[in-house]
Amino acid sequence: MVDLSTTYLGLKLKNPLVASAGPFSEKVESARKLEEAGVSAIVMYSLFEEQIIHESLELDHYLWYGAEASAEFGSFYPQSGTYTLAPEAYIDTLKKLKDAVKIPVIASLNGVSTGGWIKYARKMQDNGADALELNLYYLPTDPDLTSTKLEESYVTLVRDICKSVKIPVSVKLSPFFTSLPNLAKRMADAGAKGLVLFNRFYQPDLDIENLEVVPNLVLSTSQELRLPLRWIAILYGRIQADLALTSGVHTPEDLIKSVMAGASVAMVTSELLKNGLGRSTEILADVEKWMGDHEYVSIQQMKGSLSQQRVKEPAAFERANYMKALNSFKYLP
Ligand SMILES: Cc1cc2nc3c(=O)[nH]c(=O)nc-3n(C[C@H](O)[C@H](O)[C@H](O)COP(=O)(O)O)c2cc1C
Repeated sequence: MVDLSTTYLGLKLKNPLVASAGPFSEKVESARKLEEAGVSAIVMYSLFEEQIIHESLELDHYLWYGAEASAEFGSFYPQSGTYTLAPEAYIDTLKKLKDAVKIPVIASLNGVSTGGWIKYARKMQDNGADALELNLYYLPTDPDLTSTKLEESYVTLVRDICKSVKIPVSVKLSPFFTSLPNLAKRMADAGAKGLVLFNRFYQPDLDIENLEVVPNLVLSTSQELRLPLRWIAILYGRIQADLALTSGVHTPEDLIKSVMAGASVAMVTSELLKNGLGRSTEILADVEKWMGDHEYVSIQQMKGSLSQQRVKEPAAFERANYMKALNSFKYLP
């Protein structure tokens, strides 16, 4: 018998396949289907700082200028109606999900400032969230803003949130840091019990006919696995936090690689959007079979076996790999 169980953020999970933050958690029905299909935990879609701040800004505006002014105010925010209800609706959905499924539900907050909005972390905890994932996403455009200052504000935010709740907190990071291991260590020192690598960005496209910047969501492919895989392999054993891999998990092999690199869990969204929630069952069955065929008895045994500290050639994760990769390409004119 193969033991697929794993531990993530102190939660005992029946296997390492987790549904990452995304649209499945919006409806109780799809969350139930995810549970039936075998995923071991669900990360809810994010509640955005902007949604919470907008709620209080709109209330202020209403109090100062009266009802007739709020239509004009609302026009600054394209989704005013949904925004204003968002925090309450979020908590309501969380409660419904908790009633509907037995697997852990991880709530998600998305923001960067240490404002009043972080009180929602406590609300999430009080309404049953088993853990909290904090998605840190800020895109600096000001040339005078230094990386030191920005990173300090991230660390302060993580520390403030961790202090305000008892449930475990994980931090979902972008890969765009000059010294990722240092930031990862500071996140763990600030109280983060897990790091989720990496946030996936949807770069805007340009519409050259209408001269507009257009949002464009493209689902991932397995090719994108390599970036989080490399960094998880490097960080495994070096920082005091669990590692979760997100971006590019599509196949049983992707999940196995994630665990071998050192991830406690592999998170999936694009694959389930493309091929349905039932794909989780297939992935898990194939992982179990592969492990049996290769005489692995547990996820624990496999975890970190191809991390940088355990591979025969640690330099393969570093600069040396770059030259090797370039040299491996044979161009025949
Ligand atoms: C439609 C959609 C909605 C998403 N919503 C969120 C969200 O609310 N919060 C968040 O942190 N990530 C969100 N994500 C990102 C996913 O959680 C995940 O990190 C990303 O899609 C990479 O994983 P994948 O390669 O399995 O898709 C969303 C992704 C998609 C495709």
